[in-house]
Amino acid sequence: MSSDLIPDDDSAANVAVMRDALRRPLHDLRISVLDQCNFRCPYCMPEDEFHADYEFLRKQQRLSYNEVLKIARVAARLGVSKMRLTGGEPLLDKHLSTLVTGLAEIPGVDDLALTTNAMLLAPVAQQLADAGLHRVTVSLDSLDEDVFRRMSGGRGNLAQVLEGLDAAQEAGLTPIKINVVVQRGVNDHTVLDLLEHFRGSGHIVRLIEFMDVGNRNGWRLDQVVPSRQLLDLMRTRWQLRRMDQNYPGEVARRYEYVDGQGEIGFISSVTEPFCGSCSRARLSADGMLYTCLFANQGTDLRESLRNDADDEELTNILSQIWLQRADRYSELRRPEMAEAHVLRKVEMYRIGG
Ligand code: GTP
Ligand code: 5AD
Ligand code: SF4
Ligand code: SF4
Repeated sequence: MSSDLIPDDDSAANVAVMRDALRRPLHDLRISVLDQCNFRCPYCMPEDEFHADYEFLRKQQRLSYNEVLKIARVAARLGVSKMRLTGGEPLLDKHLSTLVTGLAEIPGVDDLALTTNAMLLAPVAQQLADAGLHRVTVSLDSLDEDVFRRMSGGRGNLAQVLEGLDAAQEAGLTPIKINVVVQRGVNDHTVLDLLEHFRGSGHIVRLIEFMDVGNRNGWRLDQVVPSRQLLDLMRTRWQLRRMDQNYPGEVARRYEYVDGQGEIGFISSVTEPFCGSCSRARLSADGMLYTCLFANQGTDLRESLRNDADDEELTNILSQIWLQRADRYSELRRPEMAEAHVLRKVEMYRIGG
């Protein structure tokens, strides 16, 4: 393996960094802890398909915490310094703080975050912070009661989500980011109000272009509101200026209000793909490792784990996957071609965005 490792002269520590076929380092591991969710966002888990009889993964099909930690430790040794827990909705796992404790103890993990819809966050925010979680990102598409209800598939309670945000702030799970998937004709008319509400709060709102992830969301290009348009719209109300990126490979383009009321981000994977700096691997709850959000195949790590693969074997498997990786779906997908795509892709609720 070491012969494939390329010294990274740019890194401060000047350590060997593993790079994929397009010379991208492995920095992030996104861990989906379960495939269930208490919401039914139509663009992710439409109610008519994810009904009461839908068969989600059973407990024994999901990785145990020990199995997740084993993979996470190997990933950290291969250069991962940033980990994110996702779902489905990860807070449906009642013992999540136990996993957080284990992840927080891994040497080299300097950023440990959680993506949640925040409905169940208020009662556990402090416990998660005490376990070692650094910060949360909250998926919240609108502050308009009707739009929010519709976009959560009739399941969300906005007041409870806002309580979750407050509790996270009190527990120091900051900076809190708020992810807003913008869909034309669905919530785009409520974006300015949402931004106004969070101005000065310290939370970073990120406006995400609606993507053609998974196979179920009936994606159409005309539902995407290009970030450029949103920026122009925002400039009719506020003065904004561009900020430098926080770290190489950051997916959001950062702006700040000139009057000091905070930061906003644009995630423009449809109109301005960022595959060139993509450093993320994704682990599904049943132990499949994917190297692209739009992957149509992954590698079954659960099978290896349950066949007693030791750390060395796992290290080899992970490094081979990364060294061979050449994914750049968003760059290859020309918008005008998107509707012709026929390959079955992994579902967003299985790898959590
Ligand atoms: P920070 O660590 O806070 O900067 O978060 P992040 O930039 O990793 O973003 P986050 O996990 O909050 O992801 C926000 C959204 O960006 C996701 O829900 C996706 O819609 C999109 N996104 C994140 N990573 C990728 C990626 O690798 N490819 C594409 N196409 N979209 C991504
Ligand atoms: N396009 C963009 N973002 C999406 N998410 C879910 N589906 C899509 C999509 N089609 C986002 C959610 C959440 C994260 C896990 O993924 O809003 O912030
Ligand atoms: Fe649940 Fe998030 Fe999917 Fe909505 S987008 S159904 S909150 S996993
Ligand atoms: Fe990375 Fe795939 Fe997203 Fe491109 S489309 S940024 S390769 S996850």
